[in-house]
Amino acid sequence: MFTHAIVRKPSLAMLKGITTANLGEPDYEKALQQHQSYVQALQACGLTIITMPSTSTFPDSCFVEDTALLTRRCAIIARLGAPTRQGEEADLRELLPTYFDHVETIEAPGTIEPGDIMMVGDHFYIGLSNRTNAEGARQMIALLEKYGYSGSTVVLTDMLHLKTGVSYLENNSLVACGEFLRKPEFSNFDLIAIDAAESYAANCIWVNGAVIVPAGFPNSAGKIEAAGYPVIPIDVSEFQKLDGGLSCLSLRF
Ligand code: GLY
Repeated sequence: MFTHAIVRKPSLAMLKGITTANLGEPDYEKALQQHQSYVQALQACGLTIITMPSTSTFPDSCFVEDTALLTRRCAIIARLGAPTRQGEEADLRELLPTYFDHVETIEAPGTIEPGDIMMVGDHFYIGLSNRTNAEGARQMIALLEKYGYSGSTVVLTDMLHLKTGVSYLENNSLVACGEFLRKPEFSNFDLIAIDAAESYAANCIWVNGAVIVPAGFPNSAGKIEAAGYPVIPIDVSEFQKLDGGLSCLSLRF
């Protein structure tokens, strides 16, 4: 169960965020409203929200999930792979010791963005992507092992982050689309297959029994509901325009 979530409000600089989506420029006011609805959904799932102030220095900083990996035993501060995102993690150094006795850090030349990390119990799958390199994954696995966890890597070919296309919903259930439907690493899970036309919905989050999904993907929501999960649809269209998934908007612990 999670008790807390860290979020970071978008600043107007988000209009200059990294994107390959070709969905147009985000509407900032709408993004703020959507962010607020997202926070309310997390609260409805029982989480206490820690809101970091927005910053105009980093256009993508609302995607706070990429700045650290938070576990029950330690927090690990990331070193982000996108050059314009390096430094987003600095404010976490001050914040995390309030909540974690052990705070570790990934060092250069390692890069890792925790959008590439999926927790399944005490095991962590780490996507090797354009943002997460082998050295970042090696350091992350060594730190996880120090705290009694395990980790393994998954090579990505198409997706931005591992969790762009795969989400663990507990109870051995895995939402997956695209390249992840055929990965041997995931063949023992009960797969909830997301159609290519709704691939954005493969990034969803289990929060204390419910699943928060992006609104507008009824087929996927229906499949997740049929698997036994109450579904909370939240519109995050303005973040989708920046390649950002729903999970990227919070750090849950
Ligand atoms: N725009 C989010 C990212 O590229 O990380």
